[in-house]
Amino acid sequence: MDITFLLNGETVQLSDVQPTQTLLDWLRDERGLNGTKEGCNEGDCGACTVMVRDAGGARALNACILFLPQLNGKAVRTVEGISAPDGTLHPVQQAMIDHHGSQCGFCTPGFITSMATAHTNGATDYDDQLAGNLCRCTGYAPIIRAAEAAADAPVPNWLHDDLPEAAPDLALPQSSDELATWYADNPDGTLIAGATDVGLWVTKALRDLAPVAFVGGCTDLKTFDVTDDEIRIGAALSVTDFGAGIAEHHPSLAEMIRRYGSTQVRNAATIGGNIANGSPIGDSPPALIALGTTLHLRRGDERRSLPLQDFFLDYGKQDRHPGEFVEALSIPRQPDRLKCYKISKRFDQDISAVCGCFNITVTDGTVSEARIAFGGMAGIPKRATAVEDILTGAPWTEDTVAATWDAWAQDFTPMSDMRASATYRLETARNLLTRYFLEDIGAATNVLEVRV
Ligand SMILES: Cc1cc2nc3c(=O)[nH]c(=O)nc-3n(C[C@H](O)[C@H](O)[C@H](O)COP(=O)(O)OP(=O)(O)OC[C@H]3O[C@@H](n4cnc5c(N)ncnc54)[C@H](O)[C@@H]3O)c2cc1C
Ligand code: FES
Ligand code: FES
Repeated sequence: MDITFLLNGETVQLSDVQPTQTLLDWLRDERGLNGTKEGCNEGDCGACTVMVRDAGGARALNACILFLPQLNGKAVRTVEGISAPDGTLHPVQQAMIDHHGSQCGFCTPGFITSMATAHTNGATDYDDQLAGNLCRCTGYAPIIRAAEAAADAPVPNWLHDDLPEAAPDLALPQSSDELATWYADNPDGTLIAGATDVGLWVTKALRDLAPVAFVGGCTDLKTFDVTDDEIRIGAALSVTDFGAGIAEHHPSLAEMIRRYGSTQVRNAATIGGNIANGSPIGDSPPALIALGTTLHLRRGDERRSLPLQDFFLDYGKQDRHPGEFVEALSIPRQPDRLKCYKISKRFDQDISAVCGCFNITVTDGTVSEARIAFGGMAGIPKRATAVEDILTGAPWTEDTVAATWDAWAQDFTPMSDMRASATYRLETARNLLTRYFLEDIGAATNVLEVRV
């Protein structure tokens, strides 16, 4: 593959790039830019964070699970390019010195690039911005003090990058039509979107994926369109942008998205990838199923649509044909009744043990419609149909909620694993309905929403 991008302000043109070579390996092994560190090599620690700018602005991304072709037409800043060519420090670098934010220093370059990206974007929610950067020595207090101290300084002019023209390449399609053509011709190929799953297939499982195509250049798949009837979301929209768009329509879903991975992971991961990977513990599918979402698939010029819940057939098996890709989703417009509860061992940067999403409509004191979907309770994201049947048509009361107790075990036979036992999962699911009920009638406060 041929690609063109900017690296610390200089144009780089590469030919015959090995498609799954990571930016981290290339920076360190071929460019001698060793400031970008390798910690986990799986997107968890942030030691490899770089700043990547495209038409949508600057984003922090993990270089360890970022493949070189994903940079085509973009501008990258490593920690070496955060300071000026004459050595002048970026305000966040000076603040880290002033506030003693670095001790062993291994995590520091990743913090600097995350902080510089937040600074560029004017983002001041530092707990969220830095949740994907792990530091085991200094602690977060001086680091966050440094970020706060630098907040009002102007963005240095040396960080301004004009984006280069993307190099043309068939496997780097620039539209969904080009993608459809490539995939129809290469039905056994692998699509790579944000690479937050696929990256690990390469760095951890050492898999050879050829042939591959990258969907990130398809700007017509990065849409969030709202009409009177539906919210239509392109498959290549990042989880960050999805969270920002959905916030005014379904704030509880946006709050759950805030707890999806880290800033770096959300910036890379796409909503289409989160569905197409078929994971039973992906965070978006239960919420989208509870909202009655329709999935739109495309192969060549053929398109079909199906309810999202029908896409997940069995563990690791989805209703998707060779050469067929996820093009979009549509969520019907509706009054917001959705609550999403992500239960995980840590608040930030953790995968769900149980993810319960409730969308229950009550008319004149009676449940007129109930849509409840869970992740982490079966081999696929799944609706609680037996529970829904008991609720529908019944008065919205504590007794009705209690009457669903046995039905949960008809809907779900969860497994025990390192995240939670089967018993815990089943009890949690039952309790979450009680919680939804109490919050709905105003007898309890959603503690997550009042967290500051
Ligand atoms: C550190 C870390 C933390 C994470 N935390 C969470 C979390 O909290 N919650 C959560 O749900 N997930 C989490 N994940 C998992 C991951 O982010 C998601 O599954 C992600 O949404 C995958 O999207 P992607 O764009 O990166 O997909 P990729 O990795 O690019 O692709 C995943 C799969 O989907 C296929 N694919 C991608 N796009 C399409 C398309 N348009 N049509 C057809 N097939 C397609 C690919 O071929 C591949 O099989 C985490 C991952 C990491 C590394
Ligand atoms: S090395 Fe840990 S996130 Fe990349
Ligand atoms: S200063 Fe040592 S890990 Fe952060």
